[in-house]
This record gives sequence, structure tokens and C-alpha cells, in this order.
Amino acid sequence: MALSFFTKSNKGVITRCQDDPVTKFRLKYAPYYHAMEAQKGTTVKLDGREMIMLTSNDYLGLSFHPKVIEAGRAAMLQWGTSTTGARPSNGSRACHVELEERLAAFLGTEACHVHAAGYLSCMAATSTFAQKGDVVFADKNLHSCLWDGIRLSLATVERFSHNNPDDLRDIIAAAHSNATKLLVVEGVYSMEGHIARLPELVQIADQHGCFTILDDAHGFGVLGRQGRGTVDHFGLTGKIDIICGSMSKSLASTGGYVAGSRDAIEYLRSHSKQTIFSAALSPAQTACARASLEIMQTEPQHHERLVANTRKYRAMLKNLGLDTWESETSAIPIVLGSKERVYLFWKALLEKGVFTVLSIAPAVPAGKDLIRTAVSAMHTDEQLDKIGDAMAYALKKL
Ligand SMILES: Cc1ncc(COP(=O)(O)O)c(C=O)c1O
Repeated sequence: MALSFFTKSNKGVITRCQDDPVTKFRLKYAPYYHAMEAQKGTTVKLDGREMIMLTSNDYLGLSFHPKVIEAGRAAMLQWGTSTTGARPSNGSRACHVELEERLAAFLGTEACHVHAAGYLSCMAATSTFAQKGDVVFADKNLHSCLWDGIRLSLATVERFSHNNPDDLRDIIAAAHSNATKLLVVEGVYSMEGHIARLPELVQIADQHGCFTILDDAHGFGVLGRQGRGTVDHFGLTGKIDIICGSMSKSLASTGGYVAGSRDAIEYLRSHSKQTIFSAALSPAQTACARASLEIMQTEPQHHERLVANTRKYRAMLKNLGLDTWESETSAIPIVLGSKERVYLFWKALLEKGVFTVLSIAPAVPAGKDLIRTAVSAMHTDEQLDKIGDAMAYALKKL
């Protein structure tokens, strides 16, 4: 029998759910879980109104590219809707292997494995290669999928200040020298838009024999030649042991990948629970990712447009005097410093037809409460101008 909201249960978990302050806050202010009624590119419909989507990670704007849509449709006709099984048993298809080979070649690694979610890939990357007795050196601001994997591994964790090689150097020097060591960082930190100081971090890792894992969910498609990512951006191809990431951003699909040496990827296929016990990526999503990867290498205009849009958008925010946390990429936060200010700003943008997402402490450090925005190659000049007007209006509401 369903319990009314006001009925107290004798089950602890039920009262926990009913009394949870985070859920109460979310339901009261309704900033999340908005179900769009329609979408066409960067235009979405919400509560019957057309809005500009300014917080999607469709950086290259390929999610409505006709070739990507057609690839997904054709794959579904060829392979059906689902793999209905995990890769080691009945879930592997030729299309997975083709995508993995192409991704590995693009990233400059020997091998690659794809999963049904980026979260699974990045969690697999950390949980599989680290184990009890190891020490993992982790940037304080890592994505939760990397933390989940680190925790599962039972390794000891040493956090260093965000993107701070000096702090990493001090912490590594103080750590037990005989333990097996790993370094976990992101290429581009999506909350802040910061690019990892990879050359210095890799140099320290090399000095101490640290196995390096890089989550490039937000660098892939944005940085490097043809969008090869943060490693290519710094000319460090071959210097990172594992590159993992998501295919739900620039690749306009879903799923994720883990790329590295053949030995490492075969080890992952033997030991990663996320790889062995979860159904394989759907054929349609596999084909969409593969088509997007092809487009990244044959249609440079999408990346060029992303660069131009990012420059224009960042300049607009700067002119308005907004704090963008020194973002260097297309993921650009607007730091407003308190949850009240963030809420007012977010509501005002919504009123003006611009859809964003807010992030408040403890999801961000205290005083860094922010609006998450991301620019796409698909935003038109007219949309960027409307966004500028909406930002100016929202500022007046503070
Ligand atoms: C840095 C980072 N890693 C991994 C993921 C997980 O990817 P997905 O959403 O495709 O599961 C995300 C997505 O938000 C991310 O930002």
C-alpha cells in the first residue's frame, strides 16, 4: 500500500527518504529534472515555451547531424534495438570492435574498450587498475565516477589541491615509496572549465613511477588536433597510461571508452566488473559514436564553429563583468557565490528563455555556487545575442 507523504513509517529507510532535506529543497525550488517537451538542436521546448539550451555538452553540435541520425537508424535495422547481454558472453558485435579500433587509432593508443555509459568507463578505469595496498593520488575536484572507482578499489587515497602540481609533488614525496602508485586527473574539469596542467603532472608521475589515468570526457572533441583531446593538445600522446571518457558529449551518443596499451585493456576485460557484468553498448549508440568520430575527422567546420562561439560567448560574459572561474574551454561556469544569487540568476535566465543548470555547495566549494553553462557549435549568432541580453537582464535581478 502506498504511504502518504505525512504517514510515518517504522522502516528507517522510508523515513530517511521522507525527511531528506536535499530532496525537500529540490522539490520546493524545482531546479532539476525538467522534462523537455521537444528539442531541435539547441532549441528546446519547456512548459510550452521555446528555450535556448545553454548547458548541454553537445560541444560539436552533432546530435542532430543527419549522418549521425542515419547511422543510428541503420544500425538499429541491422542489429536490433539491444545487445541484451554483456560483452564477454552474448553482447559483443562487430560494430563495437570497429568503434574501439577507430577510437584507439584516433587517440594514439593500442587498444580501447567501450561501455554503455561514460560513468561505467571512468569507474572501471579507476577501480580496475588500482587495488588494496596501492596509493592513488587524486585531484580534489574529480568527477564522482572516478571517486566511486577509487573507493571500490580499496586503495589508499591522497588528494592534492585542484590542478596544483606543486601540491602533488609534496604529497607524493611524503607517501610510502614502495607502494604501487597511480595518478588520477581529468583533462578538462567540466565544473570549472580548467585544463589540467598535464605536462607538469605527467613529469611528476614519471619521476615516481605513477600509472596515469586521465578522464577526458570534456577535452575530447574540444582540444587537440581534430578534437583528439587534452593529451594531444599538449603533445603528450603515448605518455598517459589510460585515457577514459564519455561518448555522450562531443560524440553525440551515449556510452564511454577506456583506451590504453593492449595489455592494460585486456587486463580490464578480465577484471573489470563494470565490463564483465553489464550489458554492452546498444548498436544504435555505437553507430552514432562512430559516425560522429568520422565527422570530426572530415568536417572541420564544427570544431571551428565551436572555437568561434566559445570566444564570442566568453567575451560577452567578460564584458558583463561575470566571474567565469578562469574557464579556458567551452564549459563555462558563472560563479555567483551564494545559493540565493544563483537561484535568482537561474530563474531570470529561464524567464528570458535560456535554459541552464545551477550548482550549489556542497557540489561546489563554499562561495563558488554557480550556474553551469556550455557553448555548442550549434548555437547561432542570433542565439548568442539573445543569451547576452538574458545575462544582462539576470544580472539586474541580483
Ligand atoms: C568528467 C566526466 N567523466 C565522466 C562522466 C560520465 O559520462 P556519462 O554521462 O556519459 O555517463 C561525466 C559526465 O558528466 C563527466 O563529466
